[in-house]
Amino acid sequence: MKGVILAGGLGTRLDPLTRVTNKHLLPVYDRPMIHYPLRQLVGAGIERILIVTGGPHAGHFLRLLGNGHEFGLRHLDYTYQDGEGGIAEALGLAEHFAEGDSICVILGDNLFQRPITPEVERFQRQGKGARILLKEVDDPERFGVAEVDGDRVLGIEEKPLRPKSRLAVTGCYFYDARVFDIIRTLEPSRRGELEITDVNNRYISQGEMTYGVVEGWWTDAGTVASLYRATRLIAGNGAP
Ligand code: DAU
Repeated sequence: MKGVILAGGLGTRLDPLTRVTNKHLLPVYDRPMIHYPLRQLVGAGIERILIVTGGPHAGHFLRLLGNGHEFGLRHLDYTYQDGEGGIAEALGLAEHFAEGDSICVILGDNLFQRPITPEVERFQRQGKGARILLKEVDDPERFGVAEVDGDRVLGIEEKPLRPKSRLAVTGCYFYDARVFDIIRTLEPSRRGELEITDVNNRYISQGEMTYGVVEGWWTDAGTVASLYRATRLIAGNGAP
């Protein structure tokens, strides 16, 4: 399995912090935000990792991470997203890198307290289709929200006004190689983006989606409030 970290977008919700740097290079306690998803993938034994970034500060990722030697990697791959056409558009740029392998995707602004290793192993056993990780939250309307029935995911709504559950879809996703065929068929949403929720709903409608529930805390860090929360959580607990 290969790993993909999505670190494009302009981070406008963090303006003015993101005027002179990329959101994923901002500090979360004692290290840059991008270190956390990178350490998650490396910790799960994933050695081939692609970073998708964009915007005017993309070169700083190379300066910060180089070939990932600090993380025990021999090499890191990078690619560049023009504009911010959405999470699914950014993921589409990973097709040449995936070369038919399955992938573990992490959003560059997502932090998990516990290692994702058991979930990587579960998807390896699953072999095909897709898998998402859910977490019960108090503010589901900020996220993709999943409706589940037992083991089945019935559907996901992106930032619903009236969420059907409190189960947020976290930014860690597992896909087989068909994900790139699905992305090619997507239409931009009302906010003008190719939505990862549309990708996930396609797998759901094909009966090919499983889910796990995150143990320990999970947070994004894409708003001032959640960046502050992430820093406090790391300071209090540490994270892999
Ligand atoms: O954090 C989990 C949530 O992330 C999910 O619950 C939602 O379903 C999913 O849509 C996403 O929601 P956000 O609105 O918070 O995503 P945001 O636009 O903040 O993008 C999250 C990361 O994705 C960002 O840190 C970098 C990457 N990204 C995003 C966009 C729009 C890209 O690489 N390229 C992009 O064009």
